[in-house]
Amino acid sequence: MSVKKLFIKSYGCQMNVYDSNRMTDLLRPLGYETTDLAEGADIVILNTCHIREKAEDKVYSDLGRIKPFKAAKSDMILAVAGCSAQALGDEILRQAPYVDMIFGPQTYHQLPEMIAKLSRAKSKDPRATILNVDFPEESKFDHLPDPTPTNADGSSAFVSIQEGCDKFCTFCVVPYTRGAEYSRPVEKIIQEIKALLSRGIKEITLLGQNVNAFHGLDSNSKEWNLGKLIKHIADFQELERIRYTTSHPNDMHDDLYEAHHRVSKLMPHLHLPVQVGSDSILKAMNRKHTCDDYLKIIDKMKSLRPEIAFSSDFIVGFPGESEKDFQETLKLIENVKYAQAYSFKYSIRPGTPAGAMEYQVPEEVKNERLYRLQDLLNTQQLEFNKSFVGKTLDVLFERDGKHEGQLIGKTQYLQSVYVDGKKRLKGSILETKIIDAKQNGLAGELILVQDGTQDQ
Ligand code: SAH
Ligand code: SF4
Ligand code: F3S
Repeated sequence: MSVKKLFIKSYGCQMNVYDSNRMTDLLRPLGYETTDLAEGADIVILNTCHIREKAEDKVYSDLGRIKPFKAAKSDMILAVAGCSAQALGDEILRQAPYVDMIFGPQTYHQLPEMIAKLSRAKSKDPRATILNVDFPEESKFDHLPDPTPTNADGSSAFVSIQEGCDKFCTFCVVPYTRGAEYSRPVEKIIQEIKALLSRGIKEITLLGQNVNAFHGLDSNSKEWNLGKLIKHIADFQELERIRYTTSHPNDMHDDLYEAHHRVSKLMPHLHLPVQVGSDSILKAMNRKHTCDDYLKIIDKMKSLRPEIAFSSDFIVGFPGESEKDFQETLKLIENVKYAQAYSFKYSIRPGTPAGAMEYQVPEEVKNERLYRLQDLLNTQQLEFNKSFVGKTLDVLFERDGKHEGQLIGKTQYLQSVYVDGKKRLKGSILETKIIDAKQNGLAGELILVQDGTQDQ
């Protein structure tokens, strides 16, 4: 079989990274190998994100960049996948008529058939295209091959366990692009995790748009929640670290609290987005919880796992947000003290309720609030990082650094750590003394292990 080249680019969240890896798995048996260059590739897939306007704009600018490569190689298949494909459908063809295929996040398991269908159609009409933005009855997960090592980045891998969202926050497109909430069957998840562990994976991140809403069925049709799943997989000996993301405050449950209390393999780090610190804006966002509810979760987690650290997502400039509302967000941040956070200016998404709300906040106000918010979050991140200088952290070393002899790994809190160390230590979790801290990372020294491993 001749080797064909696949260029695939992921935008947006980790779910898309997972999906891109699975598409690569699907195409490998057809002779496709991945390439870092869109130019000259046989198939180019842009796995897009629709969460903010900027993400959407990026797809069109990348399509413009790829257009000449497609013109130079007429048999190149140019595909737009993911959430923007789902939301925009054939609108993409109007803007970029040189695109060949458009398909959403729930139909990519049909990729081999779509390619065959496209090639048959192109032999009759070179301008033929494929548009596949259905929400099929069947689950794509039942039609995907076993994961291969490409699924894993070094010693860490994502496993999607839940997808879609029924929460309909008024600002968000995800319920429309990913569809209704769905949990994978427990056995399938366990099978996938075992396959990854047998290939040397040490850290698993369980993924979902609302991962703690997981309610998958086992073979006896009994429902499992996320806490139960974590407690079960923690018994797999080769598995050393467990994470999950993204969780929602309304889906916290006793088993999950207990997992944080008892399961040492569950990392003491919780990404729990709150978005804002104002109850009236939370209400307008349809988040269905108050600041107090959120702070109670934080307190409970801290009492069960004192070393736990938190991260969150924030939106500034939601319609109607006053300076007072914004101040409340700053107050909440000061109260919680985050290890890290993502923050965004509210972006109007067509078709969402908030997009049609009155009192949209002017761009300059959003800019100014984002600046103040990020200033506070950056200060907290630096303080958090600095608190480890002189202390020892366990680091999972994953990749080479820029400089010769440098390795980069992750702490239990997802901080990047740079050390001088030998390549063969990649994939190991090693005690590391933190010697310096910046906002975006730590510098460390490997602690001498008995056989002097790091010196060889
Ligand atoms: N399910 C997750 C979030 C998924 S989207 C949750 O509920 O927490 C990731 C983040 O993008 C959101 O947490 C939010 O902060 C941000 N986001 C979503 N829609 C947005 C919009 N219209 N404008 C700006 N940020 C947005
Ligand atoms: Fe979007 Fe809200 Fe669902 Fe998160 S919970 S994916 S923010 S609708
Ligand atoms: Fe973006 Fe879709 Fe993820 S909109 S954030 S890629 S679920």
